[in-house]
Amino acid sequence: MKEVVFSGIQPSGSLTIGNYLGALKNFKPLQEEYQCIYCLVDLHALTVEQDPKFLRKNTLQLLALYLAAGLDPYKSIVFIQSHVPEHSELQWLLNTITPLGQLQRMTQYKSKSKLQEENIQAGLLNYPVLMASDILLYQTKYVPVGEDQRQHIELTRDLAMRFNSRYSDTFVMPEIMTPKVGAKVMSLQDPTSKMSKSDSDPNSYILILDDEKTILRKVKRAVTDSLNNFSYNEDQIGLRNLIDIYCAFEEINHSEIVSRYESLGYGKFKEDLAEIIIEGLKPIKNRYEEYIADRSELENIYRMGADKARKIAYKTLRKAYKKVGLIPR
Ligand code: TYM
Repeated sequence: MKEVVFSGIQPSGSLTIGNYLGALKNFKPLQEEYQCIYCLVDLHALTVEQDPKFLRKNTLQLLALYLAAGLDPYKSIVFIQSHVPEHSELQWLLNTITPLGQLQRMTQYKSKSKLQEENIQAGLLNYPVLMASDILLYQTKYVPVGEDQRQHIELTRDLAMRFNSRYSDTFVMPEIMTPKVGAKVMSLQDPTSKMSKSDSDPNSYILILDDEKTILRKVKRAVTDSLNNFSYNEDQIGLRNLIDIYCAFEEINHSEIVSRYESLGYGKFKEDLAEIIIEGLKPIKNRYEEYIADRSELENIYRMGADKARKIAYKTLRKAYKKVGLIPR
């Protein structure tokens, strides 16, 4: 039996190169060695207000992007979270063993709730419990995600441990899997904060589906510094972030980049970086256009995925229900 890899992305708008380098790019190579399960977490997206029309559209677009990034629905299980009701059911059990204080201390909850202080919903607070349910339902060993998800994986481990020690071994203990570079891509306008698709300034992020001109413009406008010293260090975080993006796309070491551009300067570096991003994304964009045009194939794929996912999820849920004393149907 292969070990299980599980990950998910929210269909809450177009993906940035942060989502790509931190998560999506790393999904494909895992398919040979592991039983991979890749979810479109539409229930998570509901924790911020969604226009139903856009949510439907974004979900299909994200599925097309998964496929364009090389996910093979015959090797991996690719499905939509709301199609497998066991996610919400296990979440309820996990809610009953989750300390409220631990949820209130989650960094992502704190920063997101600050944006809507007058109107914080319980769903935003409980978001990480649903994520724990996603992971634990499939007896997941590895979770490939960006660095910003670390705290959520820690909570998942705490919950698994608590459940296992109270009711005997039920869940596999999952581990985070982050890429060496690209685990935390920073904003192009404010390199002290994470690149995010919900940022109000579109110049702060590059989308996978941005056109070539837009990518070039955004890279050229990216904040660096006026030191005119091409090096990789903690005092030049804007430049360091751009070097990291270059390294992640090209899979080379930052010292190679520094020696290549020391004498060429920031301007030439930015031009080349834009070219590397454009070339890196081109094959995905082309395949994306093919997949998004074939609605019935997308439907076949997500239905097949949900059928396979439910079989696994149902088994785990039944086991957990039994252990806590619920009477089997
Ligand atoms: P989401 O949809 O916000 O982001 C999807 C993935 O992209 C990564 N990511 C980044 N990586 C590097 N640099 C960035 N600037 C950057 N921004 C985002 C995220 O770390 C993530 O891997 N809670 C999750 C979705 C989720 C999930 C799960 C993930 C729900 N259930 C179960 C794994 C397993 C989230 O909000 O991702």
